[in-house]
Amino acid sequence: MKISVIGAGYVGLVTGGCLAALGHKIWCTDNDTHKLDVLESGQLPIYEPGLDAVILKAQAEGRFIVTKDPVEAITAAEAIMICVGTPPGPNGEADLSAIENVAYTIARHAQSSKLVIEKSTVPARTGQELKRALAVYGKKRGLAFRVASNPEFLREGTALLDFMHPDRIVVGVEDDETERQLREMYRPLLEQRFDCPVHPSGCPSLPPPHWMVTTISGGELIKHASNSFLALKISYANMVAELAEKLGADIDQVMRAVGMDPRIGNKFLNPGLGFGGFCLPKDVQAFIHLAGQLGVDFSMLKEAEKINKRCISRFIDKIRQALWILKGKRIAVLGLAFKPETDDIRFSTSLDLALRLAEEGAHIQAYDPEAMTKARVAAPQLNFSDSAYEAVRDAEAVIIATEWKEFRDLDWTRVRDLMARPLVLDGRNCLPAADMVSLGFDYYSVAGSHSQPAAAVEVA
Ligand code: UDX
Repeated sequence: MKISVIGAGYVGLVTGGCLAALGHKIWCTDNDTHKLDVLESGQLPIYEPGLDAVILKAQAEGRFIVTKDPVEAITAAEAIMICVGTPPGPNGEADLSAIENVAYTIARHAQSSKLVIEKSTVPARTGQELKRALAVYGKKRGLAFRVASNPEFLREGTALLDFMHPDRIVVGVEDDETERQLREMYRPLLEQRFDCPVHPSGCPSLPPPHWMVTTISGGELIKHASNSFLALKISYANMVAELAEKLGADIDQVMRAVGMDPRIGNKFLNPGLGFGGFCLPKDVQAFIHLAGQLGVDFSMLKEAEKINKRCISRFIDKIRQALWILKGKRIAVLGLAFKPETDDIRFSTSLDLALRLAEEGAHIQAYDPEAMTKARVAAPQLNFSDSAYEAVRDAEAVIIATEWKEFRDLDWTRVRDLMARPLVLDGRNCLPAADMVSLGFDYYSVAGSHSQPAAAVEVA
């Protein structure tokens, strides 16, 4: 199929690259021409493991065309995927102006009727607005557009795997032709006939995805309900962690046991600094806002948001308890991306933590394996180091803010010797507590068996 992807961000590039890997021909455009320049130079404007190779291969084979001309992208394609950003406005409502812009551009410039697919996360009813916007101009020019919702469930860091081996493909459609086109688009995944860029030597035997056909609003709601449920799970774990800390229970053990119940499942129960990133926080906000507009008080999600915000404050209290005065203290913050295996710092709780400590007068020495370029621009008030070892030199505390494997694999004896004081505060419960203690660290995690810094103050 000939498919245009409008929006060259995390969703657009993964979707476009993977659809090209499935054999389709892709036109990719964005109104940020810098991103397109980077793509044209054979690089990616984002870091997503494995994606550079997928897009380079597709470019070399002529199946991934980067164009600065949206009209070229629109006229060339039979289906257009809208992958633009929908950031939250001041009251939490999703800002859909980029979607509207794209709709008008399509309607004004298309030469024939097209299928327009919402891939960006949007509140329920956006599809209907999109249809209306397309109809306004399309009708005048004798064109009728069809609209579908096809939400993505891609986790940054493992997005290629999620695209190639999804558990479900949700299509919100209003007619059989649209469903047929979408089925055609995803046929290689449904029939499991494709060269997988994630497992080039053969995929593990994974079941084919569920093909779920619903209405456009149903598709939109499924996305919101999925992400909000994940947020609820994380906040639940963080709430129990708050209690576990007071009871002296080991939260990791508690959540492991809770997750052994298949009705609950063991994923997304890790407590820590809370959920961040460009999806969960804004989707929760937008869902609360949408519910409110429809007269439903989604109080449960509001509480999840509150619990999430408390995570950083509680952790800062812990740091303060361990260090006493923060002002003037040299603190190494390891990890700035909102989670490992990405360079994305949007709504990153890790970066937020570093900034809040800096605001309190701490001297922050920050390092992240992939997010440094973006962090240097977004947070010039922080000090940056080129390696974890450089960041920890003379530090009075090391904070693990993002659970990169690189940090687990550090030579912790060397880290201890470089530091002014061997103190580690693990915001993601990702280091082996007993090993850290036996190396001589004061080690504190989130409601783990070693979570009470009061002892550190006494020892110090
Ligand atoms: C999310 C959804 O998972 C994905 O399906 C959707 O399509 C896009 O949004 P992503 O934003 O990449 O993906 O991040 P995710 O893996 O969901 O993590 C979100 C945040 O929750 C991160 O900050 C992560 O650190 C945090 N998290 C996750 C926890 O604090 N504890 C957990 O147990 C899991």
